[in-house]
Amino acid sequence: MDPAPCALLLLLHLLRVSADTLTSPLPREPCELDDEDIRCACNFLDPQPDWSSALQCTVAVDVEIRAGGRSLEPFLQRVDPEADPRQYVDLVKALRVRRLTVGAARVPAPLLFGVLRVLAYSRLRELTLEDIEVTGAPPPAPLGASGLGIATLRLRNVSWAAGGAWLAHLQQWLKPGLLQVLNIAQAHSLAFPCEQIRSFPALTTLDLSDNPGLGERGLVGALCPHKFPALQNLALRNAGMETPNGVCVGLATAGVQPHRLDLSFNSLRATANAGYPECLWPSSLNSLNLSFAGLEQVPQGLPARLNVLDLSCNRLSRAPRPDELPKVGNLSLEGNPFLVGAEAPSAQGNTMNSESGMAPACARSHLAVGMSGTLAVLQGIRGFA
Ligand SMILES: *[C@@H]1O[C@H](CO)[C@@H](O)[C@H](O)[C@H]1NC(C)=O
Ligand SMILES: *[C@@H]1O[C@H](CO)[C@@H](O)[C@H](O)[C@H]1NC(C)=O
Ligand SMILES: *[C@@H]1O[C@H](CO)[C@@H](O)[C@H](O)[C@H]1NC(C)=O
Repeated sequence: MDPAPCALLLLLHLLRVSADTLTSPLPREPCELDDEDIRCACNFLDPQPDWSSALQCTVAVDVEIRAGGRSLEPFLQRVDPEADPRQYVDLVKALRVRRLTVGAARVPAPLLFGVLRVLAYSRLRELTLEDIEVTGAPPPAPLGASGLGIATLRLRNVSWAAGGAWLAHLQQWLKPGLLQVLNIAQAHSLAFPCEQIRSFPALTTLDLSDNPGLGERGLVGALCPHKFPALQNLALRNAGMETPNGVCVGLATAGVQPHRLDLSFNSLRATANAGYPECLWPSSLNSLNLSFAGLEQVPQGLPARLNVLDLSCNRLSRAPRPDELPKVGNLSLEGNPFLVGAEAPSAQGNTMNSESGMAPACARSHLAVGMSGTLAVLQGIRGFA
């Protein structure tokens, strides 16, 4: 046989083998560290997980650890809550980790807060908790300890035995005045006891997206008055908002004055609620995102002027009249039926997605809403306390 095709066959064979190993669902090693020692990800799915595999992650900057949904209760017995964390200080200070994600676990609150206390000695900047159930009562916050100096905190689908008081507890373990970005998605309770929460003086971004059960009434409970004095970006994507006017009332009640407000992926109504008072938008607001909101007309009660107004991927069937729109520097209307219809037909003959009545550019993202819809059902059952 000619050597060239032979070599080709061999190469193909090798490629297939390595592709198989790469896509295999259960890697033998639960942890994988990349060649640059930057990213390390562990997924402990095995019933008898080899936890020591995580040791290789001590050199990584981005660390993700998922615990296969198991309870971490057994670890609590190994942690001495009275132990002086200073005995770990040198070790923890040597860690390169800047971004840590912990997911898929049932964690006793004393263990979680014990870990946060030790991580306070690290150079961690971003912490993400995902799919976690925090059980039991949180221990009292240590007096005089310096706290975790993170700038970004993200929580997705984290439930707390402490209910709505969780944010107040968690805040006591953070170094005051450093947090800039707070994301809370798929929350089980956003009804915070505001009197227990201290101000977040450096927080510029609050993202409460993907909380379809929140609603406009819940918004007032989540936006504790005067606790977010530096807020610039408020994201409320897929958060059960009904009308821009209703959100405006919520902002006014909470005294929150964002520069940018994202209301995309809510099914918004164009007409204001009958009972709601007219609302004055914060003068700081210069960007409003109303894309993917199912709007058939430009909603009433928008701010009088804006730098950016995104009305893309709605159901506007005619061009808005100037008197319906605020004074806008940067208006986006793409992906609305009135524009799609006017465009030259594409090679396929039809630029519209006939099923959804949406422009193709908008259809893919719309799928994401479909998935969030399933979430809405789950969250609806749980309810918001
Ligand atoms: C939320 O987290 C729990 C574990 O606490 C998990 O069982 C559940 O599947 C997660 N839900 C979603 C929608 O991911
Ligand atoms: C508005 O929101 C959509 C969907 O969340 C996003 O794709 C788009 O970039 C946003 N527009 C602006 C101007 O930020
Ligand atoms: C308008 O907004 C779009 C999307 O955010 C951005 O790419 C563009 O640069 C903006 N244009 C102006 C003039 O601000």
